[in-house]
Amino acid sequence: MNLAVANWKMNKTRAEALAFRDAFSRRAAALSGVEIAIAPAFPFLAEAADPGGRWALSGQDCSGEKGGAFTGEVSSAMLASCGCRYVILGHSERRLRFGENTPLLSRKLARAREAGLTPVFCVGETLAEREAGATLDVLAAQLSALAEDPGGEALAVAYEPVWAIGTGCNAAPEQAEEAMRSIRRALAARTGGLRLLYGGSVTPDNAAALAAQPSVNGFLVGGASLDPESFSRICLAAAA
Ligand code: PGA
Repeated sequence: MNLAVANWKMNKTRAEALAFRDAFSRRAAALSGVEIAIAPAFPFLAEAADPGGRWALSGQDCSGEKGGAFTGEVSSAMLASCGCRYVILGHSERRLRFGENTPLLSRKLARAREAGLTPVFCVGETLAEREAGATLDVLAAQLSALAEDPGGEALAVAYEPVWAIGTGCNAAPEQAEEAMRSIRRALAARTGGLRLLYGGSVTPDNAAALAAQPSVNGFLVGGASLDPESFSRICLAAAA
């Protein structure tokens, strides 16, 4: 089944998270054939949870450490104990703004597995890398963080070209397909369920064309996931 993940980033107060939950649960009841996950900011995991169980919860990140004296960090076990099924790792905002690199992401992946969380592992090239013709090499290097990840476990990999995130300029469906096909080739040895998500300026208007690509198994949605109506329309496109 395809997967649609809402990445709220550092948006929504408690009241706004509750308002989304109520508005989205009315719409989610009518959605079938798609798995849905919401990744709120850490303080509002309880508020963003679906009392009806129609959608799963995801963390936006977790620590590479198990626990202890790491002020400000949140562990994978904490997320699991709050009911999370997923954790987003390696988002480009974390790579580019917080200096996250492959060794750190390998540790985060290991922590996620220890807690039974399924990673939504993000990869994607910058505009300069694309223009230099380095896209597929960059993706391969980023995927090397998965070298120690158990290949029999379920995994989601989100292809999110950095130039498409929050810019209103999504990748053309053919561009997404080419990159995602290379990701699937690189991970061909895995035997667990592998889903490839596209992320980067997904909207209700472009979701259907992207979902129609053979390699696309769903979406990781930022800005358009903040509104219950637009996110439910994207979930509907992912289900088709
Ligand atoms: P966007 O963000 O949909 O706002 O482009 C996607 C993401 O960063 O996951």
